This record gives sequence, C-alpha cells and structure tokens, in this order.
Amino acid sequence: MPSQVVINDVYEPHLDNAARVQIFYGGSSSGKSVFLAQRCVLDVLQGGRNYLVCRQVGRTVRKSVYNEINKAINDAGLRGLFDANKSDGVITCTNGYQILFAGLDDTEKIKSITPERGVITDVWVEEATETEPDAIKQLLKRQRGGDEATPKRLTLSFNPIYKTHWIYQTYFAPTVWADDQTQYTSPDLSILKTTYLDNQFLTAADRADLENEQDEYYRDVYTLGKWGVLGDVIFKNWRVDDLIGMVNQFTNHRNGLDFGFSSDPAALAVTHYDKARKTIYIYDELYERGLTNDALAPEIKSRIGKQYVYCDSAEPKSIQELNNLGVNAVGVKKGKDSVLFGIQWLQQQTIIVDAKCIAARNELGVYHWKKDKDGNSLRIPVDKNNHLIDATRYAYEDMGAGWADVDDLGSVEGYRSRWQ
Ligand SMILES: Nc1ncnc2c1ncn2[C@@H]1O[C@H](COP(=O)(O)OP(=O)(O)OP(=O)(O)O)[C@@H](O)[C@H]1O
Ligand SMILES: [Mg+2]
Repeated sequence: MPSQVVINDVYEPHLDNAARVQIFYGGSSSGKSVFLAQRCVLDVLQGGRNYLVCRQVGRTVRKSVYNEINKAINDAGLRGLFDANKSDGVITCTNGYQILFAGLDDTEKIKSITPERGVITDVWVEEATETEPDAIKQLLKRQRGGDEATPKRLTLSFNPIYKTHWIYQTYFAPTVWADDQTQYTSPDLSILKTTYLDNQFLTAADRADLENEQDEYYRDVYTLGKWGVLGDVIFKNWRVDDLIGMVNQFTNHRNGLDFGFSSDPAALAVTHYDKARKTIYIYDELYERGLTNDALAPEIKSRIGKQYVYCDSAEPKSIQELNNLGVNAVGVKKGKDSVLFGIQWLQQQTIIVDAKCIAARNELGVYHWKKDKDGNSLRIPVDKNNHLIDATRYAYEDMGAGWADVDDLGSVEGYRSRWQ
C-alpha cells in the first residue's frame, strides 16, 4: 500500500472483504466515503478490478464521488498513475483498469457501460437510500459473467434515514441485525456500522457539531448512526409516481425557488396544480450547492424557460440578478405565520412527486415537527431538509389571499392577474 494512505482502523479489515453485498452505513462524518474511495483506488491500482461508482442522480456524481476518488488518488500520491477524464466520467490507471461513473437515472448508460479491460468487478453505490430496489437488482445482474476467480462485490453506503426503508427491510431484517450491533459478516452480506467516533481525523468542532444535535431523529441518524424512526412527520399526503407521460398536459405551472449557496442548496420546485382535484404535481427540481446566480440562472431556464418562478422576497439582490440573466423571478411576501400557514395549506392537498425528484422525496419523507423535552410534538417544524419544501411553499404562497384561483401562475397572464 502506498505509504501516504492512512486508513481509519475500523475500516482496515474491509480492504479485502470479499462478501457479495457490502453495506457501510452509519452516522455523518464517520469516514465511509473516504474509506470507500481509498479502497477503490487501491483495488484498481493493484489490477484485476474495475469499478462502477454510482449515485441515483447522475448530475450529483461529479460533485461528490468523482471528486472524492480524485482526492483519494492525490492524497495517496498516485496522481501520476491515474488519468482522469471528467467529461466522460472515467478514471484510467496506467495498468489499464478503470473507475467508471454513472447515475442510476441514466439506465442506457448503466446498461452499456464497459471497461476497456476485463469486467466490472465492483459496483459502489453512494447514498444508496436514494435508490429503488429494482435499480440495485439490475446492478447485481449487470455484474454476472467474467472471471470467476475475482469476487464480484456490490457496496452500498448511506446514512440510515428510516427503518421503513427498503434497504432495512431487505438486508437488515431482524434476524440479521439488532439495533446495538455494529458488524455482520457472511459470504453473501457484510454490514459495518460506523459513527463519527470511528473517524480519528475529525476536528473537535466537527465532533461538537454532531454532539450538539438536539433533535432526536437527526441525532439518532446522523450522530449515532441508528436507523431513524420518524414520529411526527409533517407530510403524509404525498406519493411517488412516474409523471413523464403527463408533463405535456401540465399547464397550470407554479414554480418556486429557495435560495442557497454553501451550506444550504439552491432548490427549485417545478410543479403543476390541478385545482379541481387539489393535487400538486412536483415534476422537476433542482437541488444544488455552490451555484452562483450566474450558474443558477441557466439551470432554472432549462427547466422552466420564461415561466415565472416565485422566490423569497428577502433576497431582492438575487431576484434582480436572476432577472438580469433572463429568469422571470418574483419575490413573494412572507406574512406572519406564513410557514405554518403554507404547511397547513400543503397538508390539505395531494402531492404527487415524480420518481426522479429525489430531493423532494427525501425532504417530504423526513420533514417533521419539533418535540419538547417531554417528547410532545410542538407546532414548529425542525428547520432542516426543507429547501424544496420551502420552494414549493413559495410557489403556492398566499393561496388563501386570492390567487388560488389564478390559472397558470407560471404564465405572464397568471402573473399579472395575481396583482389585480
Ligand atoms: N482516512 C482519512 N484520512 C484523512 N481524513 C479523513 C479520513 N477519513 C475521513 N477523513 C475526514 O473526515 C471527513 C468525513 O469523512 P467522510 O466524508 O468519509 O464521512 P462519511 O461517513 O462519508 O460522512 P457522511 O455520512 O456525512 O457522508 C472527511 O471529509 C475527511 O476530512
Ligand atoms: Mg459520505
């Protein structure tokens, strides 16, 4: 192993773990991603192994796992032995073995992807709770064939968002997993649970952040790495569907934008409102950190063109900038109690989310009420995972005050009639 590679002790035995399915899960900052990137680089360097590294959403791959693996290459002092091609999403070692990247949402690419030499021996799915069971089944199939001497591995890494998740049902069934367990090993399946306490490279500030988490759910999942049990979720009135065939019929456009840059993402909700059925269709989204308004504007325009988008009026400068860049962005006034009012209104609708809108699904799944110290629910939402939800609220803000009746708020006419 190159001398610069320093691996957290807890992961060391897993460098040559040969189990068919491998799960690395647990709390935030426990070193999962860094270790799996290190292992990937070392495996490919050793030869005989090609990796396919994926996440559900292709556009998130480059900013996360692709960078993580390049960082592992640099930190190991191996830059000279790997050639990285970001636009193709391929990293090639001088020995001919490769690391390939793809989003599971790009089914064609997933089906056709092949390394230059040998077969894909390893698949690593980062943030695997974003995936559907079928996609994982396809990946397992995809790995059939090739040289039987090299064990094939499918590795899933994630934070344990909630116990009702299909990954828990499939791999952690009570016979395999007790809540206080940290390891499980069989030839077919290995599970390792880690928390920030297993990561010897964290700063005191990082630790304090995690230790200071007050909300029980977020503490369980992100500090302690336990499968979350959601008590009082705010939205139960939603489901996922495949909306692709319906988009052409969507005419009553309502779009909302929540600004964000570094710690919070910019979030755009692209929706259609079926007033008669009180049904909101969230059929497209943007959810991304680090976008300046210059970079945000084309992303918005590619999704909604010249339609209006309703934003937080507390950011007039950003709204003006977006307008200068050709986005029809409008501020919405947030009255007293507008958050609660907006939530209550949304609760009275049916919300249908397109399968590809992962951020909307994630947020609707976990957005929940705060509890007091005795465990009683307060009518205050926990201020986390609410960016797409806020964007949706902005799109429908002020519903009670008249423009619920406006048809197509995304259009110029709709926008004008709102003020009449
Ligand atoms: N082997 C290592 N060498 C140096 N630094 C490390 C190592 N492992 C982890 N770290 C540091 O700890 C941080 C958190 O690790 P990592 O991102 O792998 O955690 P994670 O378990 O993937 O967290 P999350 O669940 O939030 O995705 C890294 O950003 C890095 O700064
Ligand atoms: Mg990670």
